[in-house]
Amino acid sequence: MLVQTMESQKKRFEDIRVLYVDDEQDNLTSFELHLEDEFNIATFNDPRKALKVALEDPSVGVLIVDQVMPHMTGLDLAVKVKKIKPYMTCIMITGNATKQLAIESVRNRVFYEFLEKPVNFSSNEIKQIVIAGLSETILHKTKSEFRFGTLELLATLIDDKDGHTHRHSQRVTEWAMKIASKFNFDERELMLIKEGAMIHDIGKISIPDDILKKPGRLTSLERKIIMTHPSRGGDIIDKIPQLKELSTMARDHHERPDGQGYPRGLKGEEIPLMTQIVALADFFEALSSKRPYKDPWEIRDIVREINTVKGSQFRDDVVNALFVVLQEEKLISHDEIEAVTNEQAA
Ligand SMILES: [Fe+2]
Ligand SMILES: [Fe+2]
Repeated sequence: MLVQTMESQKKRFEDIRVLYVDDEQDNLTSFELHLEDEFNIATFNDPRKALKVALEDPSVGVLIVDQVMPHMTGLDLAVKVKKIKPYMTCIMITGNATKQLAIESVRNRVFYEFLEKPVNFSSNEIKQIVIAGLSETILHKTKSEFRFGTLELLATLIDDKDGHTHRHSQRVTEWAMKIASKFNFDERELMLIKEGAMIHDIGKISIPDDILKKPGRLTSLERKIIMTHPSRGGDIIDKIPQLKELSTMARDHHERPDGQGYPRGLKGEEIPLMTQIVALADFFEALSSKRPYKDPWEIRDIVREINTVKGSQFRDDVVNALFVVLQEEKLISHDEIEAVTNEQAA
């Protein structure tokens, strides 16, 4: 019966890894001895190694740290990890529970639980704490998946309403994430870009169908109405406090660094980097996809077109990042990009 319980426990949490880092080998050994049957664990006596694994292994969801260790304190380690992976649940186990450490820990808001040594790793209490930490991570993950799922649903509605642009929002999101991977964003910022790209065209929801779906040429009035979709989208998102950070990607994805964009005519750095990334992903997706009025463009023509608006419509670094992505995706070689660019310069 007991064996069965352990098995089911392990199954429930097997996808989430618990890391424990402590420079005292006895603690690590005891932790392994009493917890490895029930949990997916890994132990480290060097915080630098633990940091690397915590950042690189996507399955790590709980980090248990000792405070006083060579090379890095437990608090520093937890702060570094949380900065990149805000949904990590961190637990402190220390023999050095000073007032100063307590104050710094509260200020940094990194720890879910704070325990004093010695800890009896065979006790039920420690198992319950690990379970609570794992549950917290699952809750965060579920909340974030639910939020993204809802935004994805909205994006499908937008694309279906448009009719011409099947899966446009999904593809813009995929390209935006590839471009964003070339910059130094942390996990939280990457999630914002993913969410913002997904609903960048949400303002199209309030554009009348007969204009959005019109197969022929638009009148200048109809074009003006379509051009209101960014500000409509920004206004819709601004009404939801939990989504506020995404509103720039809806409102400003047709802005240009040279100030010639719309709706606000923002310039240069006034347009956030994440919004410029979504804007270029949007532009690239539109050129590379089939529409009722056009076939997908050849990749060389797209590169040529983007080169002509580099620096004016899109930031140089964002364009360069896209070109790196296109090479990685084997859509075009470095030499071909050079050749297109040199032809244009000639
Ligand atoms: Fe748009
Ligand atoms: Fe778009």
